[in-house]
Amino acid sequence: MISFTDSLKELTDLLLTSMPIPPPFLTVGIVDVQMGPGVQWIAPCNLYGCSIGEDCFIGPFVEIQRGAVIGKRCRIQSHSFICEKVTILDDCFIGHGVMFTNDLFQAGGPSGNPANWKPTLVGNRVSIGSNSTLLPVTIADGTVIGAGSVVTKDITEPGFYAGNPARKLRSLG
Ligand SMILES: CC(C)(COP(=O)(O)OP(=O)(O)OC[C@H]1O[C@@H](n2cnc3c(N)ncnc32)[C@H](O)[C@@H]1OP(=O)(O)O)[C@@H](O)C(=O)NCCC(=O)NCCS
Repeated sequence: MISFTDSLKELTDLLLTSMPIPPPFLTVGIVDVQMGPGVQWIAPCNLYGCSIGEDCFIGPFVEIQRGAVIGKRCRIQSHSFICEKVTILDDCFIGHGVMFTNDLFQAGGPSGNPANWKPTLVGNRVSIGSNSTLLPVTIADGTVIGAGSVVTKDITEPGFYAGNPARKLRSLG
């Protein structure tokens, strides 16, 4: 009698031989990262060509792209995406699932030309709530951004901001 395991193997073999050869793929990893001492990260995360300052924490499923710069003692929580042209200064908290952007689709869709991408600068001691999205902006030191916000404009005055588009709720202190 054929066992369940044998049938499963037969089926898997059949599927594998009848499937087209998959395209080349890359795996997640830590490649060409300039890392300060004391950095901790939880695998899997995809960090390449970026710079991460001392004593940062990088949670799982984070991607940090080429050229992005993270300052010292920052905490980047799981599932966040930090793209090219983003700079985050020291002592920042980037919540879970925070998405940065650099391409505004100004010509009607994604631009393959990095010269068209715009930078983001996050100041020192900035906290960004979970699931927020940032268009390319500058954010003042000490700013707090509420969960689920969409930041569409520069924040020049520190304070509490939230919503889509993010608006000031109140000043700090
Ligand atoms: C933005 C935040 C800091 C504001 O806290 P707060 O100053 O105590 O604000 P309040 O709870 O008193 O709310 C003030 C007003 O802002 C609104 N508000 C608060 N947070 C909001 C948010 N994230 N998005 C939209 N509106 C928000 C409230 O509904 C309230 O509106 P109302 O005056 O019309 O009732 C907080 O709500 C927040 O989002 N923190 C981030 C949490 C997070 O992501 N943590 C990550 C680690 S777990």
